[in-house]
Amino acid sequence: MISLKRLLSEQAVVLKPIQPEESDFGPGYDSSYVKGEEKYMEILVPVNTKVGEIQYGETDPESIEIISIYLDKDHRGKGYGPQAINALVEMLNLKQIIALPSASSKPFWRRIGFGPMQGDPRYFIKQFK
Ligand SMILES: CC(C)(COP(=O)(O)OP(=O)(O)OC[C@H]1O[C@@H](n2cnc3c(N)ncnc32)[C@H](O)[C@@H]1OP(=O)(O)O)[C@@H](O)C(=O)NCCC(=O)NCCS
Repeated sequence: MISLKRLLSEQAVVLKPIQPEESDFGPGYDSSYVKGEEKYMEILVPVNTKVGEIQYGETDPESIEIISIYLDKDHRGKGYGPQAINALVEMLNLKQIIALPSASSKPFWRRIGFGPMQGDPRYFIKQFK
């Protein structure tokens, strides 16, 4: 059953592109499918409150690898992570996302519909078109 907390935070998330030097992330991992530069989004909730960040890069047209998604501890478990992914899909008109999950984040990725990528099951993948 959907919780009231979840319902109230529904569609609360806004993404804002930021420059690499504005990011809180340190360097990402080496092994990645990203071509070109890494990009960053702040995850914001009303009113203009930063709750986390996404670091990603293009892998193919309309396809990205999420290098990192991070929410501040106080803002986890409210559905902002899944909302941020949905917002990114809409904003960039994506057909595919891949991500290299940590052991502890695999259940999160599975819960939002990702599964192991054929040929490289270290990575998780989801198609959107
Ligand atoms: C991972 C992260 C982005 C998830 O965002 P979030 O908004 O806290 O996600 P939610 O708690 O709303 O989880 C979405 C769903 O996945 C499930 N889920 C999340 N983590 C889970 C876990 N470890 N085990 C089982 N289920 C999990 C939730 O129960 C929820 O399911 P529901 O819709 O049935 O309630 C966030 O917790 C975070 O920033 N963690 C620290 C950094 C990290 O691990 N990043 C990922 C690796 S790059």
